[in-house]
Amino acid sequence: MRSSLRTMRVLIYIYVINSCMKICQTGPCKFDVRCQCRKAKNRYVEVNCSSKKITRIPNLLESTVLLNVSHNLIDSISKELLKAANHLLVLDLSFNRLSSINITTFTGLMKLRYLSLDNNKLEYNDHIFPEGIFKPLKSLSHLSLKNNNYYSMHPDRNFPDKTISDLSELETLELDVTGKYFGEGFDKLLNLKSLILGNRDFFSMSNTTFSNTRNLQNIVLHGIEKVKFRKGSFRKLRYLKHLEISFNSKLGGMISPVEDIAEDFKFTSIETLKLGQTSISLPKFPLCILNNELYTTNITEIYITDHRRKAGHFPVSIGPTPPTLRIFGFIEQWSHSIYN
Ligand SMILES: *[C@@H]1O[C@H](CO)[C@@H](O)[C@H](O)[C@H]1NC(C)=O
Ligand SMILES: *[C@@H]1O[C@H](CO)[C@@H](O)[C@H](O)[C@H]1NC(C)=O
Ligand SMILES: *[C@@H]1O[C@H](CO)[C@@H](O)[C@H](O)[C@H]1NC(C)=O
Ligand SMILES: *[C@@H]1O[C@H](CO)[C@@H](O)[C@H](O)[C@H]1NC(C)=O
Ligand SMILES: *[C@@H]1O[C@H](CO)[C@@H](O)[C@H](O)[C@H]1NC(C)=O
Repeated sequence: MRSSLRTMRVLIYIYVINSCMKICQTGPCKFDVRCQCRKAKNRYVEVNCSSKKITRIPNLLESTVLLNVSHNLIDSISKELLKAANHLLVLDLSFNRLSSINITTFTGLMKLRYLSLDNNKLEYNDHIFPEGIFKPLKSLSHLSLKNNNYYSMHPDRNFPDKTISDLSELETLELDVTGKYFGEGFDKLLNLKSLILGNRDFFSMSNTTFSNTRNLQNIVLHGIEKVKFRKGSFRKLRYLKHLEISFNSKLGGMISPVEDIAEDFKFTSIETLKLGQTSISLPKFPLCILNNELYTTNITEIYITDHRRKAGHFPVSIGPTPPTLRIFGFIEQWSHSIYN
């Protein structure tokens, strides 16, 4: 009896110590007063300086694992500022005024996994993104550079592919659409699974567009006024599972007929398709074509939006649907769903 009481006391004591350690280890920490600093696990800290009108990144504690300086007025980063923060995992520099970056800015960030530079003024060229600038980022898996190339004098110039080729761990890349093709350096990104592209009035794809990005599983094209493609555009993407083209877009969508790519999907691992189309008067309702060409794939979901009501009438007969198809959604002024 007595010994079990003692055991219980010891247990309660351990419990109290344990919960104190958890509470005492987390909580606020000392840093630049404009920012929120929070202790995370193992004495690491997370810093949030978002939306504080700051023009310079404050000197960082070495133990910083997350730094969010988004929505500020930062127009430069002194050369070696981030070097000390060599435990940094997440760095959000989005919505600032950067128009260039020092070549050594990323030195030391070998653990960084997430980097957002979106919504700055970083034009895509060899001068702004010189070869080697990403070399220190050995662990980077997510990079966002979207909404930067807007005012570029040469919007057709491809993103410097030798520069990107250093990011061997990269899995997700968000980019403004540039030219027609991803250069040979993309061939080195063996882990690149997701490509999110947007912000352009026009994008035209062909059988060479994705020839250096063969391991892609997801492609999302959004905010592009006119998307064109030719036969073979997706044929080489044997792991492609999810394709989305201007689906949630009022702005625009596909201007090429689905016929041109439907056959490509037989060579992929396609499971979900979300297609938004404009200004195509279709000779055939797209689902009839997709049903036929996708019959032998593992497709489970197809969604089509018709932004301009040009897809014709929903046909009486759509042909046999692929056995794996679970959801078909068609959205115009009216919508239809078929579940089987
Ligand atoms: C970061 O700070 C901004 C502005 O004070 C606030 O709106 C946001 O919720 C904070 N984020 C987190 C994750 O605490
Ligand atoms: C940074 O803060 C902004 C605003 O609070 C938020 O929208 C964004 O998701 C944060 N970034 C990261 C990587 O958490
Ligand atoms: C590059 O670093 C120098 C020196 O640290 C700094 O004065 C300059 O503003 C930085 N430039 C950019 C574009 O960040
Ligand atoms: C790409 O398509 C063109 C015709 O548009 C064809 O001549 C060429 O052989 C194709 N290339 C590859 C690699 O499939
Ligand atoms: C469909 O899925 C099955 C089972 O997961 C798989 O063996 C087959 O290769 C897949 N077919 C295609 C075309 O992806």
